Amino acid sequence: MLLKDKLVEARTLLDESFDKNLSLPEGKEKRLLEAMRYSTIGGGKAFRAFLVLTVGEMLGLKKESALSIATALEMIHSFSLIHDDLPAMDNDTMRRGKPTNHVAFDEATAILAGDALVINAFEVLTSDDTELSFEARCRLIRFLAQMAGKEGMCGGQMLDLIGEKEKLNLEEVTRLQTLKTGALLKFAVLAPATAVGADETTQNALIKYAANIGLMFQMTDDILDIEGDEKLMGKTLGKDKVESKSTFVTLMGLEATRQKAKELGDEAKKALSLFGDKADLLCQASDFILERKN
Ligand code: IPE
Ligand code: IPE
Ligand code: MG
Ligand code: MG
Ligand code: MG
Repeated sequence: MLLKDKLVEARTLLDESFDKNLSLPEGKEKRLLEAMRYSTIGGGKAFRAFLVLTVGEMLGLKKESALSIATALEMIHSFSLIHDDLPAMDNDTMRRGKPTNHVAFDEATAILAGDALVINAFEVLTSDDTELSFEARCRLIRFLAQMAGKEGMCGGQMLDLIGEKEKLNLEEVTRLQTLKTGALLKFAVLAPATAVGADETTQNALIKYAANIGLMFQMTDDILDIEGDEKLMGKTLGKDKVESKSTFVTLMGLEATRQKAKELGDEAKKALSLFGDKADLLCQASDFILERKN
């Protein structure tokens, strides 16, 4: 199967799942659900869901279980973007080709929609599933909390904000990117292994793959912030400079960042060699990150 077809499949499954998990209530609090649906259904590449479904398939995880994990993860990812766009953070007005959540609704509603998405994501992970044991679900909840919270995405966002005020060195920027973007991608790749209780060799290979694509993903985001097409990206570009962010590009320049991303891509694919042809889509995913236009 080709990567682009698999991404479409992930997007479709994810939207069905969002629709089911985020149904509109009768009461006036309906506005909260409208804001949550606005920033989840039909938005984005569904790349993290694709990773969960693809690794899940490779490791023999039941599709419904993989979809629950993917839904929870993409809810957390969408929450992170809603809050990332707020005036107090990156102050953005466009996301995924339409006005950001706080522009379409209002700031308070956007904050609440983000809050509810992160909380209800954990509810999705507890959903009754015939294949996953209570113990496996508990392990997944703990892992997602770690990758999203202080030792993961939120910690990275803190470093990102500090990086606007002071110049960070290469080691600090690497840590920033590993946390703010790498952590949720690590969850995407490793959660199926956690769910099925994969052996250590499998886990170690996936950890290496995830670490490389995690860094590479934010490097290409930073490159695209400078030379991407705004229409294709669906968000305002040139923002990193306006907000004085510390990124790989500001430290190493465009060419060196591109070169480094390519090396990370090669390392990511090398880490998958033990899976043979079964990892073909994941190798394509590594190339996709390098060449992506959105
Ligand atoms: C954007 O992530 C935020 C970063 C971590 C760079 P994506 O590029 O995956 O955004 P969507 O989900 O496709 O909109
Ligand atoms: C990633 O960084 C954001 C999150 C971890 C939520 P950016 O701030 O660069 O993401 P974009 O460019 O706004 O999508
Ligand atoms: Mg940001
Ligand atoms: Mg941003
Ligand atoms: Mg960016």
